[in-house]
Amino acid sequence: PVLVVDFGAQYAQLIARRVREAGVYSEIVPHSISAEEIAAKNPVGIVLSGGPSSVYEEGAPSLDPGVFDLGVPTLGICYGFQVMATTLGGTVARTGAREYGSTDANVSTDGGTLLHDQPADQTVWMSHGDSVATAPEGFQVLASTASTPVAAFANDERRLYGVQWHPEVKHSAYGQRVIENFLHRGAGIPADWNAGNVIADQVERIRSQVGSGKVLCALSGGVDSAVAAALVHEAVGDQLVCVFVDHGLMRQGERRQVEEDYVASTGVRLVTIDARERFLDALSGVSDPEQKRKIIGREFIRTFEQAQADLVAESYEQDGDPIRFLVQGTLYPDVVESGGGTGTANIKSHHNVGGLPEDLQFELVEPLRTLFKDEVRQIGRELGLPEVIVGRQPFPGPGLGIRIVGEVTQERLDLLREADAIVRAELTAAGLDTEIWQCPVVLLADVRSVGVQGDGRTYGHPIVLRPVSSEDAMTADWTRLPYDVLARISNRITNEVDGVNRVVLDVTSKPPGTIEWE
Ligand code: XMP
Repeated sequence: PVLVVDFGAQYAQLIARRVREAGVYSEIVPHSISAEEIAAKNPVGIVLSGGPSSVYEEGAPSLDPGVFDLGVPTLGICYGFQVMATTLGGTVARTGAREYGSTDANVSTDGGTLLHDQPADQTVWMSHGDSVATAPEGFQVLASTASTPVAAFANDERRLYGVQWHPEVKHSAYGQRVIENFLHRGAGIPADWNAGNVIADQVERIRSQVGSGKVLCALSGGVDSAVAAALVHEAVGDQLVCVFVDHGLMRQGERRQVEEDYVASTGVRLVTIDARERFLDALSGVSDPEQKRKIIGREFIRTFEQAQADLVAESYEQDGDPIRFLVQGTLYPDVVESGGGTGTANIKSHHNVGGLPEDLQFELVEPLRTLFKDEVRQIGRELGLPEVIVGRQPFPGPGLGIRIVGEVTQERLDLLREADAIVRAELTAAGLDTEIWQCPVVLLADVRSVGVQGDGRTYGHPIVLRPVSSEDAMTADWTRLPYDVLARISNRITNEVDGVNRVVLDVTSKPPGTIEWE
C-alpha cells in the first residue's frame, strides 16, 4: 500500500481517497508509527499529511526520522512538507505571513517530476502560518508564491518530494495531478487498484475466512449492508442467509427494493421478518425522541435475535452445522475514526442500524473495512446491484420513527410515507439528487394549524422539508433548492396528502440544528 501518515485534522482521509482515485491502494497510519513498523508494511510510497500544528510548537506531532532512510518514495504535504524539511536539514521559519485559501503559485523551470506537465502559473489551496525558508541540501526548489519562497521541492535521487499547498483539495487546480505525478512518475507505482480487483481480492479473503461455514447478514436496505452481503454472496453463495427486518418505519417501496430488486440482482437467500405490529405496539403512546430510539433499537435486537435463533435451529436440524459468521458493513472511516489501529481520536460513536448486540456469538465478516463510501458504491455497481439501493442517500436506522414529532401511529406513518415519496420523486425529477446529501421529510404530528381548502376550513399538520448539503454529516448546510421545485413539492403535498395543509422549509445549518429532527 501507500501509507498516509496522519498528522491530525481530517486531511489524511481525503489524501487516502485521492491516492485511491489515482488507482493506488492506500492506508492511513498515525504519525507515532516507527520506521520499523512502516517498513513491516512494505509500503510502495508514503504521503505525509497536513496537520493543525506548527513544527516548533511544544508537543507538535513528529515523525521517526528513520522513515526518510527507508528508501521509500515519500511526498510531504503542508505540515508533512515542513516536517520533511526540518528533519532533513532545511529550515522552517515563522514568517508571520499566513497564507490561507486560494493562492497564486509559480512553478519554476520544468517543474521536475512532481510538477511535470503543469502550467507555470496556477492556483493552489494554502493553509499555513510557518513556511519552509531553505530547502534541505540536495533538494531542488520547484515552486514559490509571493510570500513563500519554497512552496515545493524535490530530491529525485532519493525520491523525496514536498508541497506546501494542499493538492488533495479540489481548490488546488492541478492537485490531483501532483498526487498522480508523485505516485506514477516519482514512485513508479502503476494505477491498478480498481473495483474489479477489490472484488476479486475480497472474494478470496472471504472464502479463506469462512471456509464451508454458514454466514448471516442483516440487511437494512442501505448501501453498506447490501454491498457487503453481495460480496459475501459472490464468495460463498448460499452459505449466506440474509435477514431483513421490516419494522414498518421504512419509506415507500423500500421493502420491495430489497425483496425484489436486490434479490433478483444478487440471488441471495432472504428471510423477511414482518415485525411491523411489534414495533407499532412497542412505540404506542411514546413521543420522547430518545425513548423512541431506545425502543426501536431494543425491538430490532430482539427481532434479530429471534430470527437468528430460528435460523440456527433450522441449520442444526438440516445438517448440525451452526451459523458461525455475521456480516457487517463497517466502512474504513468508521475504522479510522474509532481509532482502529491508527491512534486517531474517537470523533463520533456510530449508532449503527439497529445496533446489533455485542454479545452475539459470531465471528465478524467485514469485507468493506478498508473502503470509503464512494468505493462501496462503485463495487455495488460492479456487482450489478440496483441503482435505487447503490445510490441511496443516508437514511437513519430508526427510520420514519424519528421523523414523526409526536407519537408514532400507523396513520401518521402512512401519511408521512406519502409526503416523503412526493418529495423524493420531485427532487429526482429536478435532477437534484447529487446536490443534496439527504432530505429528511418530517411530520409535526403534535402541531396543527388552520388552513382553507376548497371552501372549507382545515385544521391540519405541517410537513417540514429538511434538505441538507454535507460532506460527512458531521456538519451540514441547508440546501438552497430552486423555488419552483419547492413550490411544486408544496402544491403536491397539500393537494395529495390528506391531513397536511402546510409545508415548511427548515433553513438551519448543522450546528446548531442536527440533520434529523429527533
Ligand atoms: P444528525 O441528526 O445527528 O444525523 O445530524 C447525522 C446523520 O446520521 C443519520 N442518523 C442515523 N443513522 N442510525 C443511523 O443509522 C441512527 O440512529 C441515526 N440517527 C441519525 C442521519 O440521517 C444523518 O445522515
